[in-house]
Amino acid sequence: MNAKLFSNRSLHDSIMFTIHRLVGFIVVLFAVSTDAAFQISEKFKTKGKFECPMEYGVFANPTNCRRFYTCNGNVPYDTPCPTPLYFDDAKKLCVYKSKDLQCGPVPVTTPMPTTPDPNAAPSCNPTACKLPDCFCSEDGTQIPGNLLPKETPQMIILTFSGALNVLNAEPFGQLLNETRLNPNGCPIKATFFVPHEYTSYYYVQKLYGQGHEIAAQTITNRQPEDFWPKATTEEWVEEVIGMKEILHVFANVSRDDVVGMRAPFLKSGGNKMLEVIYDYGLDYDSSLASPFSEVPLWPYTFDFQHPHKCISSNCPTRSFPGIWEFPLNTYATDDETGGTCVYLDQCVFPDDPEIVYDFFVYNFLRHYTTNKAPFVMNFHVNWVTDDSKVTALDVFIDHVLEAYPDVWFVTMQQALHWMRSPMKSDLAKSFEGWKCPRTRSPGCNIPRTCRVKLYDGSRTEIRYFQVCGKCPERYPWLHNIRGTKEGKRVKDLVQKSTV
Ligand SMILES: *[C@@H]1O[C@H](CO)[C@@H](O)[C@H](O)[C@H]1NC(C)=O
Ligand SMILES: *[C@@H]1O[C@H](CO)[C@@H](O)[C@H](O)[C@H]1NC(C)=O
Repeated sequence: MNAKLFSNRSLHDSIMFTIHRLVGFIVVLFAVSTDAAFQISEKFKTKGKFECPMEYGVFANPTNCRRFYTCNGNVPYDTPCPTPLYFDDAKKLCVYKSKDLQCGPVPVTTPMPTTPDPNAAPSCNPTACKLPDCFCSEDGTQIPGNLLPKETPQMIILTFSGALNVLNAEPFGQLLNETRLNPNGCPIKATFFVPHEYTSYYYVQKLYGQGHEIAAQTITNRQPEDFWPKATTEEWVEEVIGMKEILHVFANVSRDDVVGMRAPFLKSGGNKMLEVIYDYGLDYDSSLASPFSEVPLWPYTFDFQHPHKCISSNCPTRSFPGIWEFPLNTYATDDETGGTCVYLDQCVFPDDPEIVYDFFVYNFLRHYTTNKAPFVMNFHVNWVTDDSKVTALDVFIDHVLEAYPDVWFVTMQQALHWMRSPMKSDLAKSFEGWKCPRTRSPGCNIPRTCRVKLYDGSRTEIRYFQVCGKCPERYPWLHNIRGTKEGKRVKDLVQKSTV
């Protein structure tokens, strides 16, 4: 039914894409400058009235609560909220009218001071940076292995952030159904960034058992969000490496398989966070947003300076050899209705699957028709609780698998395998790193629901959570990841990586 609803897409996509590129942008322009990259949205540019408070971000329209400005490199774009929504300047989102609505402008919180770092990593030196452990390019858009775009497989990486539980986990069975196949006949796979609080390890174990990638967020995902850019190295160890341990203890996820992380609210912890990734042997981070660009960025390593403007809270400045970043390329809507976003659910849409589907295709094509940079589709897990949004994603997945023979849905880990040893599209079917994952223990059919106390210094609460194995004595928490009577710190339980 859905396939019919959106028939003949491929041609339609190409035509639409061409129309959107009237500015003379032709396939593969590695040399495109950042300035040129924004010309596409010229028609939405406002006539010098509004001054961007910050270089990037969304800001209230001071005179009209139904509209807001998207600033991209200090250029403001006047954007309306879809009817009947209003722009809440505290939430930075279009929301329904309520008594909590904060029409702007709400005072801007000051960004972290950016004193130049005397020990900063140098910028990309391609001759000193060699695969498999180092990859960079001057503007971040180069394809690894010097492949041509037409030789390069198009990776699509579905990521879901947030607590998996009975309220949201069931639809994944259908969405990531094993009948949806990559060109090598293996089922498509996704990556989950899992925080601890409210997570059911029954579902984590189930998805892991089906071959999806489980990566770490943090134990508390605590607020205020500003905690994270300023968190200490020790706090990152307890939160992220603690999360990795919890995934191992309560969902039987092999420690070797938790190799990536994402900061809560994408509030990166800069050098301190990267030190922890490096010291504890993780392979990658995916927390840094990059500004909208017509040619998207490929993942890169932190041997050298990141190749994009830092629009996140606190980007690393030092060198962390061999650690990869999957940057979050900013998505754009193809008209003025939805603004820009780095989580797909943060652009605003009317409740219409076809509009959401068009938005996916529009952004996908910016990757497919330029440099084939992995199209990372970032969702919060609750995306799947909205039927019309699931439909849009369903139709999109079926459409691209059918219409583009060189499209692969892979996990971040699988994408890393490919980046480390790039392989032409026609050979990818026999690529070792994309073989069907080895069979993993399937977890259980009936979870155990644990009723345990959470002791958190200031509070004691009863918490319920699901596992396949044994219930612990306490709710696993910061400084007590195993949920025992006597909590222990991660730094006393886990060795730093010796690598
Ligand atoms: C996959 O789809 C089939 C057919 O629609 C369905 O019977 C099966 O239950 C699905 N698998 C999961 C894990 O939901
Ligand atoms: C945990 O995983 C290992 C393999 O990684 C498996 O041998 C073992 O049976 C699993 N344990 C449980 C309780 O599922």
